[in-house]
Formats: sequence, C-alpha cells, structure tokens
Amino acid sequence: MTLLDLFPSLRTTMTPRLDPALWPTTTDHDDRGRIRVGGVALDDIADQFGTPTYVLDETDVRHRCRAYRAAFPEAEIAYAGKALMIRAVADWVTREGLSIDVCSGGELAIALSAGVDPARIILHGNAKTATELRAAVDAGVGRIVVDSLTEIRLLTAIANRRVQVLVRVTPGIDINGHRAVATGVDDQKFGFPLSHDQAGDAARLVLEQPNLELVGLHCHLGSQIADAEYFRSAVARLVGQMAQIRSDHGVILTTLDLGGGHAVPYRPGDPECDPAVLAAVVDDALDDACARNRFPRPQIVLEPGRAIVARAGVTLYRVVSTKTHAGGRTFVAVDGGMSDNPRVALYGARYDVVIANRHPLGRHTTVTVVGRHCEAGDVVAEDVSLPVDLHPGDVLAVPCTGAYHHSLASTYNGVGRPPVVAVRDGHIRELIRRETVADLMARESDA
Ligand code: LLP
Repeated sequence: MTLLDLFPSLRTTMTPRLDPALWPTTTDHDDRGRIRVGGVALDDIADQFGTPTYVLDETDVRHRCRAYRAAFPEAEIAYAGKALMIRAVADWVTREGLSIDVCSGGELAIALSAGVDPARIILHGNAKTATELRAAVDAGVGRIVVDSLTEIRLLTAIANRRVQVLVRVTPGIDINGHRAVATGVDDQKFGFPLSHDQAGDAARLVLEQPNLELVGLHCHLGSQIADAEYFRSAVARLVGQMAQIRSDHGVILTTLDLGGGHAVPYRPGDPECDPAVLAAVVDDALDDACARNRFPRPQIVLEPGRAIVARAGVTLYRVVSTKTHAGGRTFVAVDGGMSDNPRVALYGARYDVVIANRHPLGRHTTVTVVGRHCEAGDVVAEDVSLPVDLHPGDVLAVPCTGAYHHSLASTYNGVGRPPVVAVRDGHIRELIRRETVADLMARESDA
C-alpha cells in the first residue's frame, strides 16, 4: 500500500507542478499521478513506442494557430515548416487557416503531398538550386523570397509563368540573441542589406524582369525574440524602403513579411512573445510608418515556426544509468541525446526535465541529464531537479521539444531517429516511425 492509497488527497498536493507555460495545453495527470498529454499517459506511449519518442499534441498546435489568427485577423500567418515539417502538421496548420513557408525542395514536396494549396506556400532559402526553383515554379508556389542577385537571374531564366517575388532584406537590427540565429544584422549570409541601397538594387533587378512580379519585402530578424519592439523597428525600416522603391520606380509594394522568431519559454520564467502584444506593436508601427511615408498599409505576413509547434512537443527518454562522481555531479544518462536534440550543443539551450512514469513522493536532488553519444557536450539538461530514487527504466519527459528537434535530428553514432507520435482526445497516431538500424544500412551500397 502506497502513501497515495492511504491519503488520496496527497495526489493533488504532491503532484509535481508542471509549468503550463511550457507544457501542451492538454497536459494533466491521471489518477495514478502520471502525466498525460492529449488524454494519453506519457508512460503508456513510452511502453508502446519505446524511447526516445517525440510526442506531439495536435490540440496544442491548433490552439497556437488560432491564437495567431485571433491576434492578427488581417495578416497572413505562414507556418515556418523548418520547425517541424511533417505532412500531418502541414495539414493541421493549413486547416487552421495558416499558409506555409518552406525552405527546400524536400519541405516543398512534403507540403504538396499533404495537399497544401501551392498558392499558400512561400519558398525561402539563401541557396536555392535551379532544381528547387523549377519545382516551385512548376508546382505553382505562391511566392518566392529571393536572396541574391544570382538567384534573381536564375529564377528569371526558369520562370515560364509570372512569379510573385519578395526581396529578403536585412534591416540592420541586432536582437542580441545567439549569433547562429541572428539574421537581421548586415554581416551574415542572408538577404540584401538596406545599407548602400543593396535592397534597392535587388528590387530594381526584379522589376526589370517581365516574368517576375515584385510584391513586397521580407525580413527575418532571428530567433527567440521576446521583445516585440524589435518588430517596430523592422516595420519602420522596411516601410521606409518600400517608400523609397515607390519614389525610385513608381511601384507600390503591397506585402510586408516580417518573418518569424517569436520567443517561447523553455524553462519556467523564460520570457515569451505574446501574439496579442506583437499584434499591437506591429499595428502601431504600421500606423506610424505608413503615415510618415504616406504609404498605403501593406498586407502583413508573419512566419512563426517555433511558436506554433514547440510547446506541443514532449520528448520521452528512459533512464539507462545514474552515477555520482565523488564530490561532484550526479549524471543521469538516457537513451537519446544530441542526435534527437542537438540544440543544447548548438546554442547552449536549456531545458526542464520531469519524471513521467510515476508520482515522485520522495526527495529530489539536482542532476545533469546526459545523452548516450560519444561527446562530453552531449547534454540533455543541466541542473534539473529529479527524484533521488531515480533508477534505470524510469521515463523522463522534456517539454517544449516540438520545434527544431525532429527537424534537426541526426543519426549520429548510428542511432536511428525517434518516432513522432501525435496525441489527441485519448488517441495516439504514429506520424513518423522510428528509424531502425535496417533503415540506416539500407542507404549503403553493397560492398
Ligand atoms: N522565417 C524564416 C525566413 C526563418 O529563417 C525562420 C527560422 C523562421 C521564419 C521561423 O523562426 P521561428 O519562429 O521558428 O523562430 N535551429 C534553430 C532555429 C533556426 C531558425 C532558422 N530560421 C533553433 O533550434 O533554435
């Protein structure tokens, strides 16, 4: 007989508090104190599908889409597929009224195979190949965001129909984030800097091509932007550039794509970018910039990726071993790691971890959860509080892993990529199956 059987009220008082800011909106506990998402106990998913496994809450994804649609009723919201491009996700988000931004022939093919209307697809990329441009033109993709003069010439040669084009500009805005994802500053590979009129030169070249139709400008400032004020500056600078293009060429651009990068919290207390706050800032900035330049209000496009899918995702691992170095840290090693989540190694990302298969009643201690890969930097989460009696076989759950986890996963060390399992209303649906050793070997030519 457990303490919980003797004192059922302990269930509510002892339930580990899961921060609702990090967890899928449907998260709750069953009567055994196990964490459920979408009405399914995470522990049962671990039993059925093995570990590691990515769990994805369909309701949460749809909820985020609706929040954006509600906050921006007049804007176009294009889900950035690079965060998690799976047919089912493309289907959910487009049914919720979003468009899709893709950045490769592969993402384009997945979106098309999900039945997404090509007119609602935006193609990105700083090094699109001729094959990818041709595929986009042939498929009838709605807009292509051009990133270099070479690409404009290539697209001109390929486009056998009139193609709508956005010019990607770098507005010279530093969001002070991780350098790997700071894309709004001049000195990096993306886009045309506003400085020295390079964006103007790109616009001129597009306007000279009869088969290209310049409809607007695009910028993407970077990732994990919590302060919406950066977007105020972006609107001011891009509308200024649109006014400049009008005075140079007599053309009025109608689309202003502000990219994505809206922050989500990974750990309790992390800041996030609230769509409603962002909407107010963008609206205000547009009023201001359009009045100042006497420019007609453009159609706004936003490209959130992480903010749509990150919080819908939970990754499940099983504890393989624990060890405590004398006078040092306690390491909890799990059966996944940097092959299913390289974000810790790449960006120094930090995560929360909880035990999911049982109700921890005893003491907790601070540990480092590490992966199974052959690098000391293969860390899942540092300084997390887990039960002292944690043992091999326990299931750990890491929230906020829906974005840039499956999409960044590798087969490092010959470890196959985890499955993606969707949950909704108590039902489980496997979206992507686990990659097996046979899958890995299937790519090898016979010796
Ligand atoms: N639009 C463009 C043109 C982008 O390049 C990106 C992300 C997005 C939209 C969506 O950004 P989001 O809303 O998801 O932050 N691997 C990194 C993130 C790289 C993002 C690259 N571009 C990570 O795991 O944090």
